[in-house]
Amino acid sequence: MKLVKNIAIALTAVAGLASASFGSAAGKHPMQMEWSFDGAFGQFDMQSAQRGWQVYKQVCSACHSLKYFRFRNLTDLGYEEDMIKAWAAEYEVEGEVDDAGDETMRAARPEDAFPNPFPNENAARASNGGALPPDLSLIIKARHDGANYVYSLLNGYEDAPADSHVPAGKHYNPYFKGGAISMAPPLAEGIVDYEDGMAATPEQMAKDVVTFLTYVAEPKLVVRHHMGLEVLMFLGILTIILYFSMKKIWKPVKAGRNVYEDKK
Ligand code: HEC
Repeated sequence: MKLVKNIAIALTAVAGLASASFGSAAGKHPMQMEWSFDGAFGQFDMQSAQRGWQVYKQVCSACHSLKYFRFRNLTDLGYEEDMIKAWAAEYEVEGEVDDAGDETMRAARPEDAFPNPFPNENAARASNGGALPPDLSLIIKARHDGANYVYSLLNGYEDAPADSHVPAGKHYNPYFKGGAISMAPPLAEGIVDYEDGMAATPEQMAKDVVTFLTYVAEPKLVVRHHMGLEVLMFLGILTIILYFSMKKIWKPVKAGRNVYEDKK
């Protein structure tokens, strides 16, 4: 018995050590937020997604592309065709090769995806201290606990503790794997002028841009959640029907056995 207890203590200690070291290397556990799109009854908060689009457009799109999201997908967020055309035209994408064989650029159109702001990877790295700003189309799905992670990352910049060695050009952020990130804190109070008059605090902007990016990564998320609920309800009803039909089917059999037993 004592041996079992000792083994248990040893195992707990090893697990504790393993998780402690893993914890710091993998980044701090993200803050757990409440999201409009969570759960079986969730709905995308479209106002928030629209504000998030403003944040992406005015801040993040300077460094990050959305290669799987087309300008015309903004109609699903409730925007009109004319507005979308005008926004698209603010961006440049690669055009046709001209008669002289040179590559040309043209204004983006609604059917184009959000372009990469840098002409190539080297240019992107050169502008960002050697790091590559990733495409954000699927970032919410690509990271564990994506919505909470990106929210925490955006709000998680802190002064580096004395014992941490943050290399020059990097910023201390405990939510980022390894703790030092090349992205400077992108959000500051009032950096975006919200069309709906909402106060642009860093927390609000992070929440909105995460709602927008979740929509971009999985526009059918809410539909999928609802479908899960419908399937459960269907299975529930099916179980009840099966229960009563089984009862009915077995009734004569059971009755028969009783008769037999009665006879004995
Ligand atoms: C000035 C350029 C710049 C801006 C503006 C910027 N980022 Fe970044 N971002 C970067 C760079 C560079 C990296 C890569 C960091 C690294 O690998 O150290 C990055 C990485 C990220 C990551 C990935 C972190 C990971 O786990 O790998 C996310 C998410 C992100 N940015 C979100 C945003 C959002 C949302 C905005 C807008 C609010 C934004 N960024 C604005 C440069 C930028």
